[in-house]
Amino acid sequence: MTMRDKLDLLGRRRAQSELGGGAARLKAQHDKGKLSARERLDVLLDEGSFVELDRFVAARTSENGDEPIYGDGVVTGYGRIEGRLVYVFSQDFTVYGGSLAEAHAQKICKVMDLAVRNGAPVIGLNDSGGARIQEGVVSLGGYADIFLRNTLASGVVPQISAILGPCAGGAVYSPAITDFIYMVRGTSYMFVTGPNVVKTVTHEDVTMEQLGGADTHAGTSGVAHFVHDSELASLAAIRELFRYVPSNNMADPPRGRGTDPRERRDEALLDVVPDHPNKPYDIHDVIRRVIDDGDFYEVQPAYAPNIVCGFAHLGGFSVGIVANQPAVLAGVLDIAASLKAARFIRFCDAFNIPLVTFEDVPGFLPGVSQEHGGIIKHGAKLLYAYCEATVPKLTVITRKAYGGAYDVMSSKHIRGDFNVAWPTAEIAVMGPKGAVEIIYRKEIAASDDPAAAMDEKVAEYTERFANPYVAAARGYVDDVIDPRDTRPRLIDALETLQGKRDRNPPKKHGNLPL
Ligand code: HXC
Repeated sequence: MTMRDKLDLLGRRRAQSELGGGAARLKAQHDKGKLSARERLDVLLDEGSFVELDRFVAARTSENGDEPIYGDGVVTGYGRIEGRLVYVFSQDFTVYGGSLAEAHAQKICKVMDLAVRNGAPVIGLNDSGGARIQEGVVSLGGYADIFLRNTLASGVVPQISAILGPCAGGAVYSPAITDFIYMVRGTSYMFVTGPNVVKTVTHEDVTMEQLGGADTHAGTSGVAHFVHDSELASLAAIRELFRYVPSNNMADPPRGRGTDPRERRDEALLDVVPDHPNKPYDIHDVIRRVIDDGDFYEVQPAYAPNIVCGFAHLGGFSVGIVANQPAVLAGVLDIAASLKAARFIRFCDAFNIPLVTFEDVPGFLPGVSQEHGGIIKHGAKLLYAYCEATVPKLTVITRKAYGGAYDVMSSKHIRGDFNVAWPTAEIAVMGPKGAVEIIYRKEIAASDDPAAAMDEKVAEYTERFANPYVAAARGYVDDVIDPRDTRPRLIDALETLQGKRDRNPPKKHGNLPL
């Protein structure tokens, strides 16, 4: 054969490797509103940047006789997002339902190893029926090989999972170890066992959507971080995430390209916090007015909305924002809020993203279900996450900082670098009414007019303790600031903290209260 003949053969083989499970299955995929594995990569990556690896790796077992099934149901390789290197795998549901088998797993492991070695993120586009039944225990071994790599890569390179179809059995555990999960309404599902098994074992009737649909995982279980109405929106959102996130744990996060002036003051911040201390307000109104161009990339907006987490730029610096939300449950810390924020904080700390905390929190949520659900250990996770974080930590107390929640929310005592309060801040062991009921109970009961005595004591307590100046007198807050100056003061602090050096003692690893 001449070189030209051989090139013809190569061309035919390359074309064959792109057929996947054939035209009929591809049509079925499109009919469900889903893109093919390769189409998804085209949308995700910078145009023309995808370089495929292992296209000629064939399935170990083939039902087509001697005809090889090239690719084994997953397309792997690398490409660019805004010019930055990322490693990718995209499961092809048209080949054995995207199920994971020996060669399929080895291809994924190869790109994960390359990503860690070269300090680049891994993005997995998942669309898989789980372990390939025909390959038995070899498929299970393949999953375990991936889980190990997910775990070892955690905190080294960002790992992102898009769930773009049914993900059952082992197919959910690799995404669960990764940093962020994106799901699509109506086509993404995640469950350990599907509705039929649930019916058999627990006799519960539940639909796919109710059991493991996108909104279920975004709002109820907290497994998913982002939900979109289409694959296109989901893939575009993944690209956007990389505006804030570095390529690995040794790199600085990317700078924002906004044009918002560094010194911008915001008059409206004077009127966000209501004069009455128990009136709610939306903390988004504070966040958006402070960050660059009001551009906030919120994480898990539908889960535990009493705490708000997300990425933004401040003076061009990428930051992770954690904020109590007075508009939901008065911004109280409960189990779900503690888990959500703790995981977000640990991601930011692992990837050198400074933390900016906006605090207005009445404390931890009381109640039997919270206590029995383990608020002690789950709240401790949030405390642990803030304590161990060595990235720059900036805190703005807008109103309440009561009780244990004062300590937890990035206080000075747990290595807060820059802690300021607005004049509306109330920093104390508890709110005035609760405090007065405890310390003046006998005195009030013995008075001629208990109601008047109560009001008097509450006013006295408020005057003495429900303000930022007791904390400021001790240096627990560095300053009490004009709310309008919040943005320039935070940016200035971020600039001073660029050279921050802080380390935790050497250890194998800590023992996070799980
Ligand atoms: C081999 C599979 C497969 C699998 C699907 N297919 N799952 N082939 N192994 N695990 C094949 C089907 O035979 C079919 O082939 C094609 O993929 C499409 O599947 P359909 O059932 O027609 O599609 P759909 O109706 O959309 O349903 C998708 C599905 C369902 C919900 C994923 O296929 C399903 O329930 N699959 C089994 C899921 C499961 O139990 N997996 C094992 C989990 S155990 P044709 O030729 O018709 O196109 C596990 C252990 C790991 O993963 C544990 C690690 C911790």
